[in-house]
Amino acid sequence: MIILGIDTSCDDTSVAVLDGTLVLSNIVSSQVPLHALFGGVVPEIASRKHTELIDGIYRQALMEAGLSLADVDVLAVTQGPGLIGSLLAGICFAKGLALSSGKPLVGVNHVEAHAMSIFLEEPVEFPFISLVVSGGHSVLLLFSGPCRFRMLGSTRDDAAGEAFDKVAKYLGLGYPGGRVVEELSRAGRADAVPLPRPMMDDDTHDFSFSGLKTAFINYVKKYNISKSNCCDILASFQEAACDVLTAKTVRAARSQGIKRVVLGGGVASNNRLRDLLVRRCASEEISVFIPSPGLCTDNGAMVAATARFYADSGLFSALDMKVFSRMKWSRDIC
Ligand code: KG4
Ligand code: ZN
Repeated sequence: MIILGIDTSCDDTSVAVLDGTLVLSNIVSSQVPLHALFGGVVPEIASRKHTELIDGIYRQALMEAGLSLADVDVLAVTQGPGLIGSLLAGICFAKGLALSSGKPLVGVNHVEAHAMSIFLEEPVEFPFISLVVSGGHSVLLLFSGPCRFRMLGSTRDDAAGEAFDKVAKYLGLGYPGGRVVEELSRAGRADAVPLPRPMMDDDTHDFSFSGLKTAFINYVKKYNISKSNCCDILASFQEAACDVLTAKTVRAARSQGIKRVVLGGGVASNNRLRDLLVRRCASEEISVFIPSPGLCTDNGAMVAATARFYADSGLFSALDMKVFSRMKWSRDIC
């Protein structure tokens, strides 16, 4: 089955072509330099840029795959959650393709797609717990089967990636901040500054990162931390965030009696998070599945990979499907 997947949920314009789970092309055009000037994504600029870029990216994806639209069996597009204007750019383009070609269309949940990105590299048996950590979401999902998931917990305030971005911005380290925080943390000591682990030991599967961010900011103010002496506090921040995320993921798996954990989302490219999750799961005999870093951040291939499951079950979307900024956090009760 040849699937063309489109993602324009935030500030990356991406189109991919899959043959089953084999990635024939996966073009991602990042708008980061454009938004970095403003220290964050400007929704109006993002949607305009998607509209400008989408046709060229689509043509490039087909060309790299060596195919034409006639060869495509299923069209897939991110329906939500995300920025409405950005989502509309992708969805209108996908609807145009579906209308003109008569190909079936699948609207995909972006967060579910992050969880499914692992299937581009290896099959995972159901059921499993998925931790999706990105700039917009930090959620623990329980997948009981393909297209069947429910949310166990989510962030009560900032998403994990948002917290990384905000601490980096506070120190003037640019946008987005996750990768630079990780790089600078390598030169710091993770136990240098005792920072809180919000909601670490409570009996929910929820997260909270705003208290950690505030503790970080208070420390930076009190000790006059700047770009030149920030490695220890950044390493301590990263450690606290990864500690909570991994501890709660393992606890969720234990509480549900599930022996498989899948990681996804932009923050999943963080090496400390990957290592800690692997170590903690190993000690509980839980298998861990983590996509390559390039498939953790937004891309069209994960959208196509998710759509494959829906197409296999005959679950297609109507041409009048709407976009969603926030999505219902379950599909069928597990
Ligand atoms: O999944 P993604 O590409 O877009 C959203 O759906 O949000 O995730 C982007 C987020 C940003 O907040 C970025 O700072 C974070 O992922 N990120 C990282 C790393 N690389 C990207 N956070 C921590 N460590 C990293 N290495
Ligand atoms: Zn994303």
